[in-house]
Amino acid sequence: MITDRSYAVEPWCVRETRLNLDVLAQSESVFALSNGHIGWRGNLDEGEPHGLPGTYLNGVHELHPLPYAEAGYGYPESGQTVINVTNGKILRLLVDDEPFDLRYGRLVSHERVLDLRRGVLERTCEWTSPAGSTVRVRSTRLVSLTQRAIAAIAYEVEAVGSRSRVVIQSELVANESLPEPDTDPRAARALKSPLEPEEDVAVGQRLRLVHRTRRSGLRVAVAADHTVTGPERTTTGSESNVDVARLTVTSVLEPGETLRVEKLVAHGWSGARSRPAMSDQVEAALAAAGHSGWQGLLDDQRACLDDFWAGADVEVDGDEEIQQAVRFALFHVLQAGARAERRAIPAKGLTGSGYDGHAFWDTETFVLPVLAYTAPGAVAEALRWRQATLDAARERATQLGLSGAAFPWRTIEGSEGSAYWPAGTAAFHVNADIADAVVRYVAATGDTDFERDTGVELLVETARLWRSLGHHDAHGVFHIDGVTGPDEYSAVADDNTYTNLMARANLLSAAEAVERHPGEAARLGVDEEESAAWRDAAAAVHIPYNDELGVHEQHAGFTRYQRWDFDGTRPGQYPLLLHFPYFDLYRKQVVKQADLVLAMYTCGDFFDEEQVARNFAYYEPLTVRDSSLSACCQAVVAAQAGHLRLAYAYTAEAALMDLADLEQNTRDGLHIASLAGTWMALVAGFGGLRRDGDRTLYFSPRLPEAFSRLAFSLQFLGRRLHVEVGPDKATYTLLSGPPLTIAHHGMPVHLNGDGPAVRPVPAAPVRPEPEQPRHRRPHVR
Ligand code: BGC
Repeated sequence: MITDRSYAVEPWCVRETRLNLDVLAQSESVFALSNGHIGWRGNLDEGEPHGLPGTYLNGVHELHPLPYAEAGYGYPESGQTVINVTNGKILRLLVDDEPFDLRYGRLVSHERVLDLRRGVLERTCEWTSPAGSTVRVRSTRLVSLTQRAIAAIAYEVEAVGSRSRVVIQSELVANESLPEPDTDPRAARALKSPLEPEEDVAVGQRLRLVHRTRRSGLRVAVAADHTVTGPERTTTGSESNVDVARLTVTSVLEPGETLRVEKLVAHGWSGARSRPAMSDQVEAALAAAGHSGWQGLLDDQRACLDDFWAGADVEVDGDEEIQQAVRFALFHVLQAGARAERRAIPAKGLTGSGYDGHAFWDTETFVLPVLAYTAPGAVAEALRWRQATLDAARERATQLGLSGAAFPWRTIEGSEGSAYWPAGTAAFHVNADIADAVVRYVAATGDTDFERDTGVELLVETARLWRSLGHHDAHGVFHIDGVTGPDEYSAVADDNTYTNLMARANLLSAAEAVERHPGEAARLGVDEEESAAWRDAAAAVHIPYNDELGVHEQHAGFTRYQRWDFDGTRPGQYPLLLHFPYFDLYRKQVVKQADLVLAMYTCGDFFDEEQVARNFAYYEPLTVRDSSLSACCQAVVAAQAGHLRLAYAYTAEAALMDLADLEQNTRDGLHIASLAGTWMALVAGFGGLRRDGDRTLYFSPRLPEAFSRLAFSLQFLGRRLHVEVGPDKATYTLLSGPPLTIAHHGMPVHLNGDGPAVRPVPAAPVRPEPEQPRHRRPHVR
């Protein structure tokens, strides 16, 4: 991708300067536009060629049976898969009887630009048909961040050199045929023709299709309206059948003349609303978008992004690729969450169908921490979605013989969608991750209404789960046995340190929250005895430690296992999950992704600096980074331990995961958690940002040699804060809001509106850099 010469490195956009069909599917993910409700992959306007056509509506999925060779109690019976809904992007073009298809004729030039400030994808190209007619095509596309149901395209064709007869077919297409699914378990189960037709309408320049999914029974509606501008001899006509609605625009263009079609598209879906109600819904959304007009939509998009960047931008001097990548990352993280509004934020956002469109702990652990400081409203919405799925989580807990709520490891609509217990339901930590996101959001915003209406219930039901999943032994020590932590190469293990520390925090925050909200506590049936039991469990949580080695154990007994034969593993055998049986991975010391290392970041208070350094040095040579979620965590802790060069290498890996297609699966969608991890690596890694229960922000900044400056803005408790770090000093400025005390390398710094506070940056401790497994060293820049 970005290593391909067709991708330029620029600070505020991603530019592809020529069309490379070999990376078409990847580019569709990179150029995807979304607002968290609608997702349009960056497919070419004319629909073909394509890697993977993709139009997604957050929450729209189909159910399919989950077959098991041997049934077992509590196995989920029904799987959920995101579906490709009706495509509203298509604008086919015919030039003098020949389809405008870039595989034929001569492509004189082709450029696409994702503009991160304007929030649009622009395309310009010049093409000569096999018969010798030349046209220029320009298109601009957006998925509106301000009008949730709306996407729009302006498409222009210009005749070059000679007169051309051109026909534009603007379409809505349901049940597109999809490429054969991959065998990689991380790809999607593509469902053929998932939509049953209910209504098709074409009147004048307006089109509409309504369909329904067969099993999940969701109604999906899409409507389009057009504004056509062209020479006088331009004509239009429209038609529809069950799966296609089409407006056909015909014109004859003299050289230099253009034909322009502005297409507004409204998407909607519902599990409850009737067909007429859905038709009206999308028509109404179209009317509102028509009222704004194309230019109005562009202006609103820009204004919305200007506001976002003012409070969220990260500037990196010294590495242009990372500068571009972090803005690209923030843009996609915003797109994934901005208007999700009580729906999940899937691991791929709405950029592709990878992982079947499921949401995981990625949301709470990686995406929400970024949004908490950059677009906090989106965090509240994402957590309200979890609250809306509480009934399913309570049912799952009951089914498993547990109390409270057992949130699913992977899901679209709230019920467990993981067919595999060890790397599925057993990853109970997702419950504590959700609780942690609640606490972080409330600490960052002071939103006590949210805490009362949503937070308490989530904290209480997850605390109940831990209390019933764990047990006190004969000495009173609290153990949580038989769980899977973040590292999926260890499974169903006892006392996973990450899980235990996160559960401890979950139990304590629940006990504190019910004290602050006695009314809610009573409604949820929490009495003093119950919250005292949470505190007792939290105080007695077992954290396994190996005295001989002087390190924390990832789980009890982990350091006793045989080491994986890293020297005997060939580079082509990674990711290990595709080349070795799980049973062997489970019983060896090999770590798929940061687990104990992640605990040192999320539960930093528990570890002193020496422990951090020793633990990091122990787990580095075991960690293979077979998950894209790992590099960013390793970056943060490497920076804390003073390994700035290594932290820089990991930051680059997280940052370039998709732009350089490092895991070779960007075609299935972007790695939203790794993109969020880019921010984490820079702000929590080199900026040293940590939060604290006292509602203070801590910074311990330190730059790698390659950076001459790192600057970022944050929102915190109604303030806007700007932090600028140089090699020797850090400058903190309160941009707006009341005075605030933060900490710089452990020392309080009082900020008021009078001007910046400047503090020296102490030198990093000098420690030998730890090794990584053979063939798994990060690329050092
Ligand atoms: C990782 C999980 C992650 C999932 C989705 C897996 O490879 O091991 O931690 O939640 O991908 O991103």
